[in-house]
Amino acid sequence: MSEQQLFKVTIDNITIEVPAGTTILNAARQIGGDVTPPAMCYYSKLEGSGGKCRTCLVEVSKGSEKDPRPMPKLIASCRTTVMDGMEVKNITSEKVVDARAGVVEFLLLNHPLDCPICDQAGECHLQDLSYDHGKEGTRYEFERRTFKKHDLGPYIQLHMTRCILCYRCVYTADQLSKERSHGVLDRGDHAQIATFIEKSLDNEFIGNVIDVCPVGALTDKTFRFKNRVWFLKPMDAHRDCPTCSGKVTLWNRGDEVYRVTARKDKWGEVEDWICNTCRFETKNTSDWLLKVHVKLTDILLLHRVITKVLSACTSLPKLLLL
Ligand code: SF4
Ligand code: FES
Repeated sequence: MSEQQLFKVTIDNITIEVPAGTTILNAARQIGGDVTPPAMCYYSKLEGSGGKCRTCLVEVSKGSEKDPRPMPKLIASCRTTVMDGMEVKNITSEKVVDARAGVVEFLLLNHPLDCPICDQAGECHLQDLSYDHGKEGTRYEFERRTFKKHDLGPYIQLHMTRCILCYRCVYTADQLSKERSHGVLDRGDHAQIATFIEKSLDNEFIGNVIDVCPVGALTDKTFRFKNRVWFLKPMDAHRDCPTCSGKVTLWNRGDEVYRVTARKDKWGEVEDWICNTCRFETKNTSDWLLKVHVKLTDILLLHRVITKVLSACTSLPKLLLL
């Protein structure tokens, strides 16, 4: 087998080697921290995702070792692969910082500022993005878009005004279900996520669109307005499910399970897709086996307690003889 070709790339003055064909975004993810550009539409588990939101723009100050000319415009790091010797600027580029603030302003043009009543508050990627990269206020003076209400079935609520048209839900439905019954209708200012003739999205894996949505456009009807995420305790749990992996995160308050979601990695992406039964219909703690994370300090404490109990037991006969 031929050895994989490695390319050297420098991002924000940190150099790493990655296999040829790696995107700049994924190379930056290998470094981690602030070097990684934000991504509102790219999703590593969804084929074809990326290239829609422009939040991941970076400056290429050196094209490659062979052709060191800088790229004339900022480029989408989720769609551009690295070249050997490439030099990229993310947070170290004033142009990028400025452009990102512009992208945030653009994404917020039509997005309502309804975080206080939005179920996504506390885990909304757009909220985080605007805190990190946005500017105070808006220059937009026109009326915001409104939409006719669409019913997406018994489990999923669509708030089209919050949608940033990232297409992640469209790719999820397309790649996880046999029939795709929703998509982006119309173009430009009129573009919207919709089902044809208001058909409900009747598919056992369709609940995953809630997890991939970076904003509060798609939310869980079984959880809506019941609690705030910061009051809930996420716990990894598992059950033997005939349809999916059964590996989920339970969001509890006391003994009550308020919602069930797929487990997510450090980039906020789903690790294993879960089925609707696990997500919407299995909300008793008795249905789940909890994955307990035992800390080393707890093990040491337990070891100390057991040793003390054992030594007390061995000295007991001596005490009785006294
Ligand atoms: S509904 Fe959510 S996931 Fe779907 S396109 Fe809009 S923002 Fe993206
Ligand atoms: S994450 Fe790259 S364009 Fe959206």
